[in-house]
Amino acid sequence: MCGIVGYVGKKNATPFLLEGLKALEYRGYDSAGLYVAGAGMVKRAGKVAELASAVPKNFSGTMGIAHTRWATHGAPTEQNAHPHTDASGTIWLVHNGIIENHAELREPLAKSGVRFASETDTEVLTQLIGSLYKKDVLLEDAVAAALARVHGTYGIAVASSREPGKIVAARLGSPLLIGIGTEGYYLASDATPLLPHTREVMYLEDGELAVLTREGYVVKHLARGPVKKSIEHLEWSAEAAQKKGYEHFMLKEMMEIPEVIENALRGRLAHATGTAHLGGLRDVLPRLLLARRIVITGCGSAYYAGLVGELLIEEFAGIPVEVEIASELRYRPHTADVKETVLIAISQSGETLDTLEALRAAKRNGMLTLGIVNAVGSTIARETDAGVYNHAGPEISVASTKGFISQLTVLALIALLLGRERGLSKSEGKKIVEELAKLPEKARRILAKRESIAVIAKKYAKIRDAFYLGRKFECPVAYEGAIKLKEIAYIHAEAYGAGEMKHGPIALIDSSFPSVVLAPKDSLYEKTKSNIQEIRARGGPIIALTTEGSEADIGKLADDLISVPAAPEALLPILTTIPLQLFAYYVAKERGLPIDQPRNLAKSVTVE
Ligand code: G6P
Repeated sequence: MCGIVGYVGKKNATPFLLEGLKALEYRGYDSAGLYVAGAGMVKRAGKVAELASAVPKNFSGTMGIAHTRWATHGAPTEQNAHPHTDASGTIWLVHNGIIENHAELREPLAKSGVRFASETDTEVLTQLIGSLYKKDVLLEDAVAAALARVHGTYGIAVASSREPGKIVAARLGSPLLIGIGTEGYYLASDATPLLPHTREVMYLEDGELAVLTREGYVVKHLARGPVKKSIEHLEWSAEAAQKKGYEHFMLKEMMEIPEVIENALRGRLAHATGTAHLGGLRDVLPRLLLARRIVITGCGSAYYAGLVGELLIEEFAGIPVEVEIASELRYRPHTADVKETVLIAISQSGETLDTLEALRAAKRNGMLTLGIVNAVGSTIARETDAGVYNHAGPEISVASTKGFISQLTVLALIALLLGRERGLSKSEGKKIVEELAKLPEKARRILAKRESIAVIAKKYAKIRDAFYLGRKFECPVAYEGAIKLKEIAYIHAEAYGAGEMKHGPIALIDSSFPSVVLAPKDSLYEKTKSNIQEIRARGGPIIALTTEGSEADIGKLADDLISVPAAPEALLPILTTIPLQLFAYYVAKERGLPIDQPRNLAKSVTVE
């Protein structure tokens, strides 16, 4: 969602702040601003580039904070952009999250004569701190006193012109990490802006407040006092977060899919015994094997990955699985025996707030909680009892591509492990291992044909609506295909289990309403073919996706055809998703849209 960066040290802060905002722009991006001690504040509505061109050349100082905003309270105007300042113009604050009791806090401040310059909840917090920042009070004490009165979520960085060499940072629900560099200390809401400067980082936990100066940092827990923090080493390289010559991050990230599958499988395939080695689950395996029920949760694409996981686990391991979106699951009571239920939270960023809260609720209820997370050290990764990392590298484009594929790969490994422990035969296990190992090469072959998908995309670039249809393993793939078209191409797309079409949706079919039908040669191939016939009979155009060998058969029924290499049906989503991602990408490109940063969306959703 919104992004925060800060710096205090020996260098001029401005270049890092602007670069950092640029690196964070993928999180949220409707306005941006910065404050640099001694130089002042600049804010702009729009992209970071607009802010950068508004910053004067001599705008320098050795401490500063900056923010890129994704509006929640108040329109994305310059006034509502962060930093916010208090009535006296002493305090400067940037904030991610939502102050829920802002109206209640605002009233007494307004009565005491404070005039608000914006409509934001953030300014209320800034003014509150300002009102508590009396003559002999230190900034960190005023911040702590204000936070004690706040309900909601926050990641904040606060500066004061009275204490110009200091940043106070605090976190409750919105991530913040401190980078330890040779020439100063960095603050950021995710690791990406830190990568060119340092790999040594320290994550703030909920309830913690840090004071950063040129000399060092101290961290305390607002309720429990001083805490000793450990430093972690980031493994992602700075280069991994760059476009490497591709026009968009999304294309670059799709092109990385073969390597991403390899990384998710590396060291985890046991060829001789036909199972998966998942070091992250070793300690909890005894309890995991007692599971009589698994609940999978996530948001957006992560939820769709969960739907594939449900089928994989049921098919390989015979354990009943329920999948629920996190923003619903967290408000539902856990009725089944929680000791025999395992929760799997899926999240690329590891910071999605609803997923985190669903996980916390499950933990409070005594469930074993597992994470499938890409961002190492993220909150969900740290709060789950155990988990499996995706190792997909940073995903910058808002629409998840390689992240989703890596989630499917990890789910297949978990399902294989559970299966082998619960009756899946060694020979079946070995077959799955062999087939998993073949996926990177098959993904490469799909990507090599991307131009032919671009040609089809061009033909459909002007459509208003589309259906995505699939059965069993391909049904969640249809959901994922539809969300990709919606989010980056702004085309209305709906997904259904193909058999459901005749219960209502087919009424919409006409010659302007195409259907993308996932029809690989799997156990439901013939039934899916019948569904294609039903649509054709009503004049609906068909884009069919099948497996190699069935092109001639399906080709007779389709207006356009895409084929992928064959694989066992349980693993096919890892391949069939790729052409749908490419299709959405090329449609969006043809429509001239901002693919990596679609309107109204954010990469990491840290509000509820
Ligand atoms: C946002 C992104 C989606 C992503 C979802 C969950 O909506 O735009 O691409 O699938 O969040 O994100 P997570 O980081 O938890 O996987």
